[in-house]
Amino acid sequence: MSTSSELATKPQAAGDLPPYRAGLPFTSPWLLAPMEGVTEPAFRDLVLSRHRPDQLGGAFTEFVRVIDRPIKVKGLRRKLGSSRFPIPVGLQLMGSDLGAMAATAREAAAAGSPVVDINFGCPSKGALRGCAGAALLDDPAGVERLVQAVADGLEGTGIPTTAKIRAGGEDDSLLEELARAAEAGGAALLTVHCRTRKEAYADTADWDRLRRVVDSVSIPVCGNGGIDVHGDLQKLLAETGCSFAMVGRAALANPWIFAGSEVTKRTAASFLIEYGEALQARGHGLKGSVARIKQLLRHWTAGGLVDSSSRLDWLRCPDPEQLMGRLRSHSSLGPPQDLVNRPAPD
Ligand SMILES: Cc1cc2nc3c(=O)[nH]c(=O)nc-3n(C[C@H](O)[C@H](O)[C@H](O)COP(=O)(O)O)c2cc1C
Repeated sequence: MSTSSELATKPQAAGDLPPYRAGLPFTSPWLLAPMEGVTEPAFRDLVLSRHRPDQLGGAFTEFVRVIDRPIKVKGLRRKLGSSRFPIPVGLQLMGSDLGAMAATAREAAAAGSPVVDINFGCPSKGALRGCAGAALLDDPAGVERLVQAVADGLEGTGIPTTAKIRAGGEDDSLLEELARAAEAGGAALLTVHCRTRKEAYADTADWDRLRRVVDSVSIPVCGNGGIDVHGDLQKLLAETGCSFAMVGRAALANPWIFAGSEVTKRTAASFLIEYGEALQARGHGLKGSVARIKQLLRHWTAGGLVDSSSRLDWLRCPDPEQLMGRLRSHSSLGPPQDLVNRPAPD
């Protein structure tokens, strides 16, 4: 069996590579989902620092909105953050202007992104008005054109283009066509959030749709939607034939989900304190930082810090200082004990 350091450093012939490595930078089949307002560097770095590359295979930035002009390297570097881990972090772009998306993809390559992902899933009014994100789920030919434009933009860089779709717009009748369109455009990996645009973030997640996609394309498929606990990662692969599994909100409930490690209440509280400090170091005020912590507390399960009877109490705590004090009363003193991965400067 390979150790994590071998995985990170040992060159291998393409034929020997497990499916999650062939042509892709990822180091394991488990990926952290792009989440706007969450997977910016402050939160993402904390999750990466708690995992070895054989536990968490990659992560993405929150989406970068591209309107009609390319976003330049400097802005993209901010999204990638200044710390580097042995786990790759790819930029995700959202837009519909082919030229601006292709040019931004080239800037992303120059910024050091090891993969460029295209968002076809965002259901926000802004995305839909701009015919971007989930708007394109009604237009497989448009998906193909956009993937092809970004792949062309990356030509010669060796950086793969990936696409992230939902299972459809109003329903899932175009699912196979959308998947084949992404493949025809040149996507090296297709992530499928198994809910449609209409289903938004419904509780149910139909993994049969993931199996349908696996059966209709020959590129690797990453299944997303409905993973709640560590055991669901392997279960999704086994039930659907996907090569990767991506976790969104369950990583907000338990940032250690990829490792499957149980943490203590102290470790859980220390994580949230560290998150608040990282946000403040990046210019968020105490109030704004605590609002972000509460965004996690809405989902949080790790370490038994929050349970159904105390959740509302945490969320209704009106005073940011008081909430931080409450976290401190649960936390350990000294540096975090659960780091497996220290960041290197950019
Ligand atoms: C707060 C939040 C922000 C999100 N932002 C993005 C985004 O920037 N790009 C994207 O492709 N998907 C985004 N998503 C969707 C997730 O990546 C994922 O597809 C979705 O949450 C389903 O996975 P889950 O059931 O594991 O949460 C977001 C989801 C949430 C909850």
